[in-house]
Amino acid sequence: MDEKNDIMVSDMMEKIRGTLVLPKRAYFFDTTLRDGEQTPGISFTLKEKISIAQSLNELGIDVIEAGFPVISRGDFDACKEISKLGLDSEIIGLARIKKIDIDKVIEADMDSIHVFIATSDLHLREKLQMTREEVIDNVRELISYAKEHYSEIEFSAEDATRSDLDYLIKVNQAAVESGATRINIPDTVGTISPTAYGYIVRKNYESLPKNVRIAVHCHNDFGLAVANSIAGFENGASEAQTTILGLGERAGNAAFEETAMSLYALYQLPMNVNTRLIFPTAKLVESFCGGKVSIGRLTPLIGQNAFAHESGIHAHAMIQHARAYEPITPELIGIKRSDNVEEIIKQSIKLGKHTGGHALKAKLEELGIHTTNDQFSNIMNHVKAFGDKGHEVTEEDFYAILKDVFEDLPEEDQFVKLEELTVLTGSVTPTSTVRLKIDDNGNSIEKVASSVGVGPVDASVNAIIKCFEPMSKIKLLNYQIDAITGGTEALGHTTIEIMDIESNHIVKASATHEDIVMSSVLSLLKGLNLIVKKKNVSSYSKKL
Ligand code: KIV
Ligand code: ZN
Repeated sequence: MDEKNDIMVSDMMEKIRGTLVLPKRAYFFDTTLRDGEQTPGISFTLKEKISIAQSLNELGIDVIEAGFPVISRGDFDACKEISKLGLDSEIIGLARIKKIDIDKVIEADMDSIHVFIATSDLHLREKLQMTREEVIDNVRELISYAKEHYSEIEFSAEDATRSDLDYLIKVNQAAVESGATRINIPDTVGTISPTAYGYIVRKNYESLPKNVRIAVHCHNDFGLAVANSIAGFENGASEAQTTILGLGERAGNAAFEETAMSLYALYQLPMNVNTRLIFPTAKLVESFCGGKVSIGRLTPLIGQNAFAHESGIHAHAMIQHARAYEPITPELIGIKRSDNVEEIIKQSIKLGKHTGGHALKAKLEELGIHTTNDQFSNIMNHVKAFGDKGHEVTEEDFYAILKDVFEDLPEEDQFVKLEELTVLTGSVTPTSTVRLKIDDNGNSIEKVASSVGVGPVDASVNAIIKCFEPMSKIKLLNYQIDAITGGTEALGHTTIEIMDIESNHIVKASATHEDIVMSSVLSLLKGLNLIVKKKNVSSYSKKL
């Protein structure tokens, strides 16, 4: 556990350390600008690429893959411009094992080079039409050529995880003998499990000189990219090739945010990363994706829900101790919450069907609202009823619920209550039938009426007014409905103004419900009860 209580993970992580081959330090190789830009639909402008590179530099990324200069003029220019920035991060360029590619990296004046060639029989046969021996010869020849220009050379055997393991090791050894200083083991098509990937990394680690840095590069086709990368680190790897937001071919690459924070929090590996810049950097890259890729609500660590709690049990425990249901503080990755722990907890509590008394109490205290016990349980019922329909109660919804509850008439003033409402609507004449329970001098009587209208609201209002006619002639002066939040599931807030024609009493009432017919009916009933109160009549039957 971290001294400052920023991190609290399982003690088991400490216990299994001895069984792992963990590096002394974790290095990060960011390929957002190269593999990340291969995300279908994503293309960054030169300005955006420069801005991303500057942010990655600030974040403390060790190596930035700025592009693949041979593939286009745009990529070449970006590589050249980023190389000129004089950043602390090493700027590396991608090249196939081909002279023309290597020369383009040299021409772009990049700090180092990343060369690759496929090694799986499938790729050799179907893509390269080369024999295994020819690949090894090429590796030897062109890495030796690159070495004339670069001291740092990273080599990737593309499709390594579907390659014959003994052959893969032979190719990697040939690369190192020819001058490669770093060996990357790509899971190009994301086709391996953490245990199997860990095994491949371990075998390479045991077969290569100890001064060779081993990198992991995992694609997310089965959602295992981060887990596979971590398995690589447990077996001798010390560099993670990742992208911000997990951008990349198909389902993307291992997300930097998750990989880095796992290595930092779970394994406490030293690294150059300023973790507090992780969230801002992710948001910057998201903003350049033009809505094509966005941070999901449930995205680990940086999603909207990553530090939010709805369940009553969780919220209560959070109030006692913030780490009870959060492994790290949001501040650790740059998500700002208040400095005040109580505030932090209150802000992070989301209301919905799992809301418990403690969470609701904390939320009301946050807003400085005092309630009676009845009001409290009324609010709770509203919140749960709304949540039961599958909606999160937003801040605006919550205010509407509060308004509704506070405007609720006390039991003794509820002369008329709704017992049943049936509405027929669609391609028929809208018809509504209401059954009201009316307190008649201490006795309860029932009144049923049906009416048609131009729509379901109109029909329901007419039916209620009809039920009420013997008691009072009502005129509807004003009717207004507002959606509290957007979307078809939004709460509807209805305000009505009615006049009692006999006494000229005018009252205003409002009600909130996710069904606009119900919010209309409830606001009308509230208004009718207010009229009865004003007129101070106690018998309905006398008027019949
Ligand atoms: O996925 C892959 O194999 C690659 C290589 C170029 C490293 O992106
Ligand atoms: Zn890749």
